[in-house]
Amino acid sequence: MLGGRRAALAQCFLEAALSARATTAKLIARPAARLEGRVRAPGDKSVSHRALMFGALALGETTVSGLLEGEDVLSTAAALRALGADIVFERDGDRLWRIRGFGVGGGREPGDVLDLGNSGTSARLLSGILASHPFTSFMTGDASLRGRPMQRVIEPLSRMGARFVAREGGRMPLAVIGTDEMVPIEYRLPVASAQVKSAILLAGLNTAGETTVIEPEATRDHTERMLRHFGADVRVTRAADGATRITVVGWPELKGRDVAVPGDPSSAAFAVVAAAIRPGSDVTVENVGVNPLRAGLYETLREMGADIAFENAREVGGEPVADLHVRGGGLKGVEVPAHRAPSMIDEYPILAVAAACAEGTTRMSGLAELRAKESDRLASVAAGLAANGVRHEMGADTLVVHGTGAAPAGGGLVKTHLDHRIAMSFLVLGLAAREPVAVDDGSPIDTSFPGFAALLNGLGAKIGPA
Ligand code: S3P
Repeated sequence: MLGGRRAALAQCFLEAALSARATTAKLIARPAARLEGRVRAPGDKSVSHRALMFGALALGETTVSGLLEGEDVLSTAAALRALGADIVFERDGDRLWRIRGFGVGGGREPGDVLDLGNSGTSARLLSGILASHPFTSFMTGDASLRGRPMQRVIEPLSRMGARFVAREGGRMPLAVIGTDEMVPIEYRLPVASAQVKSAILLAGLNTAGETTVIEPEATRDHTERMLRHFGADVRVTRAADGATRITVVGWPELKGRDVAVPGDPSSAAFAVVAAAIRPGSDVTVENVGVNPLRAGLYETLREMGADIAFENAREVGGEPVADLHVRGGGLKGVEVPAHRAPSMIDEYPILAVAAACAEGTTRMSGLAELRAKESDRLASVAAGLAANGVRHEMGADTLVVHGTGAAPAGGGLVKTHLDHRIAMSFLVLGLAAREPVAVDDGSPIDTSFPGFAALLNGLGAKIGPA
């Protein structure tokens, strides 16, 4: 067993980190000259959530290095501890996290409501774990998370046998009335969502027989990769119509493993775009996950003329990783195909910033899912562009940004709506605009990228309290 004192310390740390969630903090970014230097991307948020969850579902000890210690991931850690996992971390050296799991189906009834803060990934993936346990649990979150659709996981998990009580429109708080007598399903995803796919596969682990998810459009496959790493039987095949079929065999014996979390391409994106839009910049972001199902932004930036080299390509924790070397220069507008959306779904806000600094028009389509993120991201981006004098048109699922090749006006105050990526994207715009750009609340940045301002300032940016 892990030491009681260490466990208590870890609990203190989790509680302190979660209660330290900063109050509203206005931030401002001032125009900066060229950016230069080497930085390391923070740990991948998606992989970090999954490393903790699979560690909890495994028997024996799992160690995780490179874990993202952002609020979202700490919310997952706290929920898993409430289910009975021992999760401790070592502050020194590599900041190794150690998990002693409860095994598939071995979680205990949480004694209180699980508060998942801002984290949609925690809520959706945990719903799959909770649904397949024979007790009732309750989940809630902040105002952003309580507004996000949960029906997309309620529907398939109900077909498997769980029951749910939600607010109007399938919103949280949510009661999950689980069962350990789930029935396996074959489910075709109506929306391209790795979270929904993962919730079903996680439920399938504690379900007799084979559970299959069919994805018409491929989404990030970290769950599938990690299932295999922990010893589950997963089959991935391509159907005749091009869809991907993912099948997991129930009741595997997952064994504790070592996981190395690669850097997050979605976080690296802010430093990469900041460098790409400041001519003369020379920045390397080390240790960036470049899984093709996550790398759509980098493909798009290259089409816009960005000079980005993938150096030192290697594998970390079963994921492809590279150091991204960016040299700033002129970008041009491009057409971004709708089919690329799943591989860059979190990157449209920062792409819109790149497009605002490019010469010509950038057309983005297939963006309906942006309306279901931490905020209605399509509306948040459009409002931010408007506040900073960037000509654009927003449609139901499209965004067209007209760049002139000259610096955007800037000078706006952007509403972040509890959305970390809106805050970070518009702070990056402030580095390249004629006038400083402010965001009304920078505190959500800690959900995914603690140290964001310090990291960019180390490269020559000027981001600070307004
Ligand atoms: C995630 C999947 C995506 C993404 C989110 C993380 C994941 O959400 O936007 O930030 O870790 O599975 P959807 O599944 O809703 O597309």
